[in-house]
Amino acid sequence: MRDLAPSSSYDNTRARVASYFDGTATRVWERLTSDAPVSRIRQTVRAGRDSMRALMLDQLPTDLRGARVLDAGCGTGAASAELAARGADVLAIDISPKLVEIAAARMPEGLAGRVQFRAGDMLAAELGRFDHVIAMDSLIYYTRPDLEAALDGLATRAGQIVFTVAPRTPLLMAMWHTGRLFPRADRSPTMIPQDHKRLGVAGLSRVGRVSRGFYISECLRVQQ
Ligand SMILES: C[S@@+](CC[C@H](N)C(=O)[O-])C[C@H]1O[C@@H](n2cnc3c(N)ncnc32)[C@H](O)[C@@H]1O
Repeated sequence: MRDLAPSSSYDNTRARVASYFDGTATRVWERLTSDAPVSRIRQTVRAGRDSMRALMLDQLPTDLRGARVLDAGCGTGAASAELAARGADVLAIDISPKLVEIAAARMPEGLAGRVQFRAGDMLAAELGRFDHVIAMDSLIYYTRPDLEAALDGLATRAGQIVFTVAPRTPLLMAMWHTGRLFPRADRSPTMIPQDHKRLGVAGLSRVGRVSRGFYISECLRVQQ
């Protein structure tokens, strides 16, 4: 039986993620997730992310009335808004208080009552049980053991988990080996490409991949 308690490497990664998204990256992320003009490269990332969000949301029922859904690592809240529009009771949580603030400010007025915003750790057991968990590009920074422990822990409290990993494509692995997935020597967290076939998690299946310019991400699902 795997230890479900967060490890020190999980804590360290989360701390790096928090200082990045709550510091140097807040404005970049706010802009990327808006309609504001961005570079050609970021346009491909934005388009890829829109496709991935749609693919992930397609794995959940259209009618989510009565369902409790966790948007784990909600960022600026795009998925939370769509989940709330389908009638879900959403808990939108992110380790970056600044991104949570932006997410709350962006939530359409008519949906705000359906979404509870919180700054904190998306794996905290005190968040309770959920019918669905969606974790878009928020588990991509964690090592395989930390990812497996995160999924095992969430699976004890959720009907299904729909999440993404950075796949081990030749391009991403070449970038990883040459250090180009370490964007500058600042505090930015590094994506860790994963081979989903090596993930030892019960009930895991592959949903599909989105590859659009500089955005490459794979959608997986855990269902008990
Ligand atoms: C690449 S962003 C994606 C945000 C959002 N899911 C989206 O797709 O627009 C990753 C987010 O995950 C959050 N995150 C990573 N680890 C977290 C953790 N352990 N608890 C809460 N949030 C976390 C980061 O702060 C960041 O906002």
